[in-house]
Amino acid sequence: MEENTLLLNFIIERGNFLTAGNASSKIKKILQSIGLENSLIRKISIATYEAEMNLVIHSLGGNIKAYIDENKVTIEVEDTGPGIKDIDLAMTEGYSTATNEIREMGFGAGMGLPNIKRCSDEFQISSTMDVGTKIKMVFNY
Ligand SMILES: Nc1ncnc2c1ncn2[C@@H]1O[C@H](COP(=O)(O)OP(=O)(O)OP(=O)(O)O)[C@@H](O)[C@H]1O
Ligand SMILES: [Mg+2]
Repeated sequence: MEENTLLLNFIIERGNFLTAGNASSKIKKILQSIGLENSLIRKISIATYEAEMNLVIHSLGGNIKAYIDENKVTIEVEDTGPGIKDIDLAMTEGYSTATNEIREMGFGAGMGLPNIKRCSDEFQISSTMDVGTKIKMVFNY
């Protein structure tokens, strides 16, 4: 962590659709308050929201850390959960294991992970079956 990093940490609960989206909207407000460019805030918000919803929907819960530096924002997302067996497949546009119930709520288009990758300047994902999944995304100013 750099000298002047602002670190924010949010706990994400699985299956809690009442609080789902709160972490990404809080991060968005803080980025607005420090005066980041709107187009960058938009990308960070979309990517963080998609990662947050994946934790709510697909994992057993986890946390999102945002590191705000002078020249970049880094978002680290970590969960405990089933993990992802085939990451290439999960990264494919349109691939989703979401149930019908989740699809009826408007999720499950299989666009979350591809969108995160598209929005970020750096993207890393790693997953261990029956342990969990980690995502790191970096957005440069
Ligand atoms: N944190 C996670 N833990 C376990 N599986 C995950 C996780 N994130 C994604 N996946 C798997 O990868 C698939 C693709 O994820 P992606 O976010 O692209 O689409 P989705 O969540 O199914 O739909 P959308 O994001 O468009 O609502 C998911 O359907 C799920 O099988
Ligand atoms: Mg998703």
